[in-house]
Amino acid sequence: MATGSENWNLTVFRDSPAASEATADVVSAAIRSKPDAAIAFPTGSTPLHMFDILAARAARGDIDFSSVTVFCLDEYVGVTVEDPNSLTRWLKEGVLDRIGVKFERLHTLPVTAEDLTAAAAEYEKAIAARGGLDLAVLGLGPNGHIGYNEPGSSAGSRTRVITLTPESRSQASAYWEGAVQIPDRAMTMGVGTLLEAKRIVLLVIGDAKADMLRKTLEDPMSVEVPASWLRIAGPRLTVIADEAAASSLSVMHPGQSAEPEHRGGASRDRSN
Ligand code: GLP
Repeated sequence: MATGSENWNLTVFRDSPAASEATADVVSAAIRSKPDAAIAFPTGSTPLHMFDILAARAARGDIDFSSVTVFCLDEYVGVTVEDPNSLTRWLKEGVLDRIGVKFERLHTLPVTAEDLTAAAAEYEKAIAARGGLDLAVLGLGPNGHIGYNEPGSSAGSRTRVITLTPESRSQASAYWEGAVQIPDRAMTMGVGTLLEAKRIVLLVIGDAKADMLRKTLEDPMSVEVPASWLRIAGPRLTVIADEAAASSLSVMHPGQSAEPEHRGGASRDRSN
């Protein structure tokens, strides 16, 4: 089994707005230090508030995304950007148009290619040609997936097509109140692809994720919980959680801290 140095960082914030703001701060800092950074953003409900904060900062001129390159994390196989259930479309309309990343600077997953395997390998080359990802912002799937690396995904997995679990398909169709048919396959950046990012932020919000966050951070790393592999990244991994998501954690972790104005609670202070 792969082992990590386990010196990753976890910061627990009082609530979702505080955790979202801290994540937006990481993104902002990454772009200020490298205006042409290559970034992967998650879809889903978790990052919505973070995207609102980034859009507000961009509108005020506090941060400039115009030179940033974005690589899509995952997309359903066979789905074009015009499809209502396209994750790329969601990212474009809900995020990139608002923060000022032009569509030409978005690398879309080649999900309509004839040879999906070869096309996925080309996508990996495009990331490598860009010097790798500077920052990967990730959410945590209810079954421990990151991107669409479903249970069974190895630490070395690369961009590829994966069959979605029924649980993930029903999670996805819930975003559309069940009105949209979710394909049974997706292309996702691999765990190994993500592990090579210079910085990884895992944002986890809400008590529904508490048990999965505990498994992610406290159980032995395994294919059962693909997010657990992120610990291999060591200090390049920052986990940002709200108190609800962190409520099942049973031990203090190296690098764990509370937001500065929230220190003093014994269970969330790194001094013990
Ligand atoms: C989705 C996406 C992930 C996302 C995760 C959590 O299916 N493939 O990129 O991070 O599941 O979604 P949510 O934030 O809505 O819980």
